[in-house]
Order: sequence, then C-alpha cells, then structure tokens
Amino acid sequence: MVEGIKQTGKPVFGFGIEGHGDHETIRRASQKAKELLQWASELRREQRPLKDLWVSTKCGESDTTSGCGANPTVGNAFDKLYPHGVTLVFGETTELTGASTWSPRAAGTTQCARSSSSCSTATRKSSIATRPANLMDSQPTKGNIAGGLTTIEEKALGNIQKIGRKCLVDGVLDKAETPTGPGLWFMDSSSAAAEMVTLCAAAGYVVHFFPTGQGNVIGNPILPVIKLCANPRTVRTMSEHIDVDVSGLLRKELTPDQAGDQLLECMFRTANGRLTAAEALGHREFVLNAVIRVGLSTLAVEVWRGGAQGAFQSFEVPRHPSQTVLDVVTYIQRSLDATLAYRFACRVGMCGSCAMSVNWRAALDLPDPCRQGCPENKLVIGPLRNLPVIRDLVTDMRGFFDKWARAKGSFEGTKTKRDDFRARTARFRR
Ligand code: FES
Repeated sequence: MVEGIKQTGKPVFGFGIEGHGDHETIRRASQKAKELLQWASELRREQRPLKDLWVSTKCGESDTTSGCGANPTVGNAFDKLYPHGVTLVFGETTELTGASTWSPRAAGTTQCARSSSSCSTATRKSSIATRPANLMDSQPTKGNIAGGLTTIEEKALGNIQKIGRKCLVDGVLDKAETPTGPGLWFMDSSSAAAEMVTLCAAAGYVVHFFPTGQGNVIGNPILPVIKLCANPRTVRTMSEHIDVDVSGLLRKELTPDQAGDQLLECMFRTANGRLTAAEALGHREFVLNAVIRVGLSTLAVEVWRGGAQGAFQSFEVPRHPSQTVLDVVTYIQRSLDATLAYRFACRVGMCGSCAMSVNWRAALDLPDPCRQGCPENKLVIGPLRNLPVIRDLVTDMRGFFDKWARAKGSFEGTKTKRDDFRARTARFRR
C-alpha cells in the first residue's frame, strides 16, 4: 500500500508493530503525523477546471422518497456535470437487480454493456455462494421495507435514478479501480455504505453524493460525503446530518432542476473547503475489507492447451471465497477463452468427470485452491497424466473404464426396494 501511494508523489510512511512494540510504533507514527500535518498546512488552494472533480455516489437507508426525490436530484446534477468532462461513478451491483434491462441501454459501448451485465451476474452468484441463506433476507433491507419499498426491483429502479437521463456509462471498474478517463463509470462494488464510500475514495474520487431516505450518518476520513434527503420527517428529525434538504420536491415547492442546482452549489462549497455535516460531526467511517480483498484477488493459472504436444497457457482469474478448481476452469472458459475444453458432470466430487492434474497431483474438484497447496495464488492445471490427451484438460478415458469393468470395480447391491427399509438401514441408525 505504501509503495502504491508513493507512486502518486504524495508523502507516505508505513509502520509495523512487529520488532518495535505498540509504544514505540505509536511514538514514531505520532512524530511522522506531526510532520505530515505541517506539510499539509503549507498547501495552498488553487483554481482547477471543473473536469478535475471526480464525483461518486451511493445511497443509503432508502425509502419511497429516495427514488422519487433524492436519487433523481443526484441524477440531475450528474446530467449537468457529465458534459463538462467530470469523472463520475456509481455502483452497488446487487442493488441494481431488476434494473439490469436498463443498464445495457445506457452503456456507451456493447463491451461496456456486456461487462456491467457480467458483473451483475458474477456479484449475485458470489453473494449467493457466500451467504448462508438466500438474498431474500438482505434485499430489500428491513429498513427499506419499513420505508415502504416492497421488492429489490422497486429499490433498484429508484437507485438507478442517481445516474440521470443523459449520461452514458463509459466503462466498468473493479472495486477501488481508478478510471482511465472522464465520463460515467460503473464500479462493481458493495452495497454496504461505508465500504462503497471507501472504495470510491481508494479509486481517487474527491466528493461524494449520498442521498438518503430514512437517514444515514456515515462520513469518511478522506472523501467528503454530502448527504441529501427528500423525506420531510428525516430532514426534521436528523437535520444536523443533512447537507441538502430537497423535501420540497414532494410538496412541489422545488423543481428537479432547482434541487439539482442546490446539490451542485453544496458540492462547490465543499470543494472550496466547507466541512460537510458528517465531517463537522466527526463521522469518519472507513472499511478496508474489499480493498484488501482486491489486493489478494487474482490467481495466476497455467492451463494445458492442445493435445499431447501442447503447452501451458497463462490466465489471470479473480479469486472468490469458496472458489473451487472447477470454478476457475469454468471462469476461464466462459470469460477468457471459450475454446478451452474440460469435462464435468456432477460438480460435487461424486462422478469423477472433472478429474485433472492440479499442481502436478491428480485431483477432483478441489475446494479453495489456494489452501490446497498453492499459497502463492498460483495454480497449474493439466490433463490426467496417465491417460491419452484428447484436447486441453480432456483425456480419453475409454481404456480406464475398460480396465475398471474388467476389474469389476462397480457397486452391486444385494438388497432391493422390496426389502424392509428399516432393516436395510438399521446399521446406520445405531
Ligand atoms: S464433476 Fe463430478 S466429480 Fe467433478
């Protein structure tokens, strides 16, 4: 992390407790913090063109007023910033569920539409794989339901209002990835508020629009978070947390255009140094989980290509919790090279179809490949060594099955369904 920040030209120091102890580390860090504070106090504000602003958005504690008021206000502001070459970003992949028919239409290129739709599918699959139950218990959240949102689709269609009506999605970013040019970017990212804002800060965004329905208090130590709200009750009960009150939209005292202008005015004041409500109240929520996951998140995979005289080909595959070797091979075939040949059937380690050589040992579908003997995030996957190779990871198994049949390796049961079930299973119940 220190090396990465150094490359930006900003002063940075790293500290480790090991070899020094708590007290000495705190002393050294305090000394450097004082020096950095003095360095920062000499910086002078300078005029910059509008296009140097990088603006991110993510909503929180959404209710029915979010999709009707606060989110379209962000959309109105985005529509006004986009033509000036400002760099914008939105995300929250799982909270776009149901608005996916919309996303490809707004995508600037077909490739971008495909990427955003595959992010959506991949994130939903990974959420489902890592959750003990299904998504029903998380989206919409209990708070969203209390606020009147009945389905994730309803929430998603309100959520997507944040990107306005005129912007095109210019590209897709991974978590915390820095965009390569101006325009509107979609970040394949978490829906958790503090995590998403931290990811935007890590990507380089400098001001954040945070529309809320029922009120959310989060701030960030790096990225100023501007809260806007269209729910009159929240504006009344949590006024100290709200920077821009757009509740007049629901009473028709404010037009969407005026609401967007109010938000932009607040953005300019913030960019000029005014503290946001979250900053003034000392909210500095910071979640590094996803940033750390990104740092560890690729597997270097060598896969055998061709027949007996073939060679290994290198691929980079994103890591996921609970990933298996078969998942790795499937990812390569579906996302990187559709010509890769491999074999599978049951996918649960029963049938033996997917047997291959993994890091030079014959194996079935291994769970978590990095805990199975490849600590450096490297995998070498080839066909089984003692069988003729047909292509890539597929071997000719006819000889094997002939020998198996001759050796009578199959199971021949002696009971039938007419035998008493309790008697048949008695030994398992003891
Ligand atoms: S697909 Fe059946 S054991 Fe792997």
